[in-house]
Amino acid sequence: MKIIIINGPNLNLLGKREPEVYGNISFEDYFYDLKNKYNNIHLEYFQSNHEGEIIDKLHEIGFDYDGIILNGGAYTHTSIAIADAIAAIESPVIEVHISNVYARESFRHHSYFSGHCKGLIVGMGLKGYELAIQYFI
Ligand code: DQA
Repeated sequence: MKIIIINGPNLNLLGKREPEVYGNISFEDYFYDLKNKYNNIHLEYFQSNHEGEIIDKLHEIGFDYDGIILNGGAYTHTSIAIADAIAAIESPVIEVHISNVYARESFRHHSYFSGHCKGLIVGMGLKGYELAIQYFI
């Protein structure tokens, strides 16, 4: 089974960025633990701050992987191009947000991605990524 976690812009700063919203653990540390715990599957991590790189990665793995876990960061609320890429590929995508976007500013309430995703996990902190892995397994 092949699963990839794709994180979008500013999520490389997890652990340092607004810790009251996103926690104080870096994604690298969290991913290290996930890799150990789910060592019987192929689990990969990709992060980019660039819209086109996220689209390229979705095209690259989107006809081959069993599951994609996508936190598009702010591109969730702005990017028709990433939404089109999700619609174009075959692998199922779960949209994850660390914070509860519906309890925050109204511009975070709309996602261009959700309608093309298998499901959503919102507001469960970093645990949301693990819940998505468990769903795919
Ligand atoms: C986020 C929520 C987005 O609104 C925000 O732009 C992010 C992180 C989350 O994981 O809670 O960068 O996707």
